Amino acid sequence: MNFTHHFLASSMALLCAGAAVAQAPAPVNLVGRAVPEIEKLPAGPYRELVQYGHELTVRTFAHIGPEVQDVRRRLAGNNLACASCHQQNATKPFAMPWSGVSATFPQYRGREDDISTVEERVNGCMERSMSGKPLALDSREMKAFVTYISFLSQGIPVGAEVQGAGMVQSKMPNRRADTVAGGKVYEAKCSVCHGADGQGMRVGKVGDAQGYTFPPLWGPDSFNNGAGMNRLIMATRFVKHNMPLGSSHDAPQLSDDEAYDVAAFMLSKPRPIKANLEADFPARWNKPVDSAFPPYLLGASADQHRFGPYPPLVAKQKEMMEQLKAGAAAERAAAGKSAR
Ligand code: HEC
Ligand code: HEC
Repeated sequence: MNFTHHFLASSMALLCAGAAVAQAPAPVNLVGRAVPEIEKLPAGPYRELVQYGHELTVRTFAHIGPEVQDVRRRLAGNNLACASCHQQNATKPFAMPWSGVSATFPQYRGREDDISTVEERVNGCMERSMSGKPLALDSREMKAFVTYISFLSQGIPVGAEVQGAGMVQSKMPNRRADTVAGGKVYEAKCSVCHGADGQGMRVGKVGDAQGYTFPPLWGPDSFNNGAGMNRLIMATRFVKHNMPLGSSHDAPQLSDDEAYDVAAFMLSKPRPIKANLEADFPARWNKPVDSAFPPYLLGASADQHRFGPYPPLVAKQKEMMEQLKAGAAAERAAAGKSAR
């Protein structure tokens, strides 16, 4: 046996051993899974930071909102709470829960075309959903968010598939969303809480940093146009299984058509504008088809990206990805020949 053969054989053995060790852990189902209780933690610095992370999640506006006394702490640009979207203290299945997030980050993110850490993900929502500024990585607030996320993720192994993560992957109707029909759904099923004008209902009055009983859905105190919630597919999925309040993945109250149209109605309204959005998704081919801002690669209109129909765009994007893959494979083959 010459050296090359020996080398190959031993690396094959190593690879196989590696594969055996790296078996994927069993999937974790968040539905019906007990949520860890902060009260059960022993007193001390860890519990204090988890508690602060929880507090920042449900009362973001009172600590880092635009109306807090100390101007240096005005980091969020609106008076929402993280829990306005990440419902039930960020533990509700299929409402983008944070349970398990510590086990799924760092991960590749198309928006940056790079590997993103939990901290960067938190700041993604700070700059978009909260329409504000990023938290300093060494701030007590960032540490508190990361610690709370890690606390909620306990018992969920790295690499496990987490059922109940993100949102229910519902299909979009194959038509342009109808904002007029959506307006009627809004009037019938949303305005009682979020207001006919979409501005929600404050706990107290403007300037008191007490946030909302029912958060606004558009206008100056809402998420900005770079937010995940400003994408129609994302908003449709959130609304379908989480709104009106009391809905859940197994007890939705809207049809697929109603959710799609009412989400489009909400996203057709004005909201804060984020600067530099053209820098998002630098690898343009993986830009989501429902991104609400240019540039676009697929030759479709801006209106189709904002309001659908999406199935033709998804098909086009898939075709483009296959062409790219085939191109890359041909390039590799050509490079392999010339190297010989
Ligand atoms: C307006 C709604 C909204 C608000 C408010 C919001 N988020 Fe999010 N967040 C989302 C959406 C939508 C996603 C999923 C988007 C995506 O995958 O691109 C998300 C994803 C996340 C994730 C990753 C979850 C996962 O499963 O990978 C983290 C962590 C997160 N947000 C943290 C925060 C923090 C911290 C705050 C408050 C400072 C916050 N978010 C406020 C809508 C919101
Ligand atoms: C009974 C009151 C109620 C009704 C009705 C209701 N919501 Fe909500 N909505 C809430 C509350 C409260 C929150 C904050 C999250 C929480 O506390 O669980 C929220 C949060 C939201 C959010 C994320 C936060 C934000 O401000 O952007 C969206 C989007 C939303 N609702 C859309 C809708 C739509 C669309 C409808 C109608 C189909 C609707 N809601 C009906 C009470 C309601």
